[in-house]
Amino acid sequence: MSVFGIPIFPEQASSFAKDVDALYFFIVAVSAFFALLVAVLVVVFGVKFRRKHAGEVGARIEGNLPMELAWSVIPAVIAMVMFGWGASLFYHLRRPPAESMNIYAVGKQWMWKFQHLEGQREINELHVPTGRPIKVTVASEDVLHSLYFPAFRTKIDAIPGRYTQLWFEATKPGTYHMFCAEYCGTNHSGMIGSVTVMEPAAYQNWLAGAEGGTMAERGAALFSQLACNTCHLETGQGRGPSLKDIYLKPVELADGSTVTADEAYLRESILNSQAKIVKGFQPLMPTFQGLISEEGLVSLIEHIRSLSPNASAPGAPAAAGAAGAASPTGATNQTPGTVR
Ligand code: CUA
Repeated sequence: MSVFGIPIFPEQASSFAKDVDALYFFIVAVSAFFALLVAVLVVVFGVKFRRKHAGEVGARIEGNLPMELAWSVIPAVIAMVMFGWGASLFYHLRRPPAESMNIYAVGKQWMWKFQHLEGQREINELHVPTGRPIKVTVASEDVLHSLYFPAFRTKIDAIPGRYTQLWFEATKPGTYHMFCAEYCGTNHSGMIGSVTVMEPAAYQNWLAGAEGGTMAERGAALFSQLACNTCHLETGQGRGPSLKDIYLKPVELADGSTVTADEAYLRESILNSQAKIVKGFQPLMPTFQGLISEEGLVSLIEHIRSLSPNASAPGAPAAAGAAGAASPTGATNQTPGTVR
């Protein structure tokens, strides 16, 4: 929507854009109504009850129970409607559907880097198909950023040291804004880009141009480059546990507890390998903190995920959708990562 060529409201280009706008306009309308009501009454009462002659004394008012109840109960009901409506919409926005397609994003001063599972990499640009829920797993290489797609009505912080997620289903082909919505330093305002929504067939064509293999293949190359494969033998006879079929499965630890092998756990085990020792193994693994970029990390995780072909369908959700259903804690989709 634009007035005199000035855009004042972003296009509705995702499946839930209309729902977000409906709630937004409802809250604006209620607020405007009461703001106006109060302003008008201030003027009306100011005129009506003004002092009409010198020496006039105001009437003594003791209170009015029905009125006090009314102006307490009615706003309380309205506020609860806003809360209930907002909470249910928020819940919907924060839970990627199980059949979502995965894309990885890394925020970095001052750019957005995206990786598609099929291997395509982009900077400050993102290509997505219509009609398919897309889950973006977001990491940060340095400071807080926030990935924001106004036309999709969704936004999520990129937090150093953990993974966050957002999802959307684009409904209309076109090119839309992408912003960083968290002040992150000198060139924060330049940390912008565009998201191109394509028909599924056009998107498949676009994907076909990838170089350097899929994300999982890049992760596998890194896996041997970092010599992970010398200890993590698939036979389980190595010095480290086998990584085959562990994704989203419970892992028994040396201290007797159990964790789910989701992205947050895998990430922590790579960067801070002593944090959670798998039962039956020695704490021999060196830390890889500072040795692997965020993009390398997500490729490694993608490689490990590919060793669990039954954990989820190709291109289907990693942590979120599946974890929401499979994790014993019923954790939310905000994968609580390792905070440090
Ligand atoms: Cu990144 Cu602001």
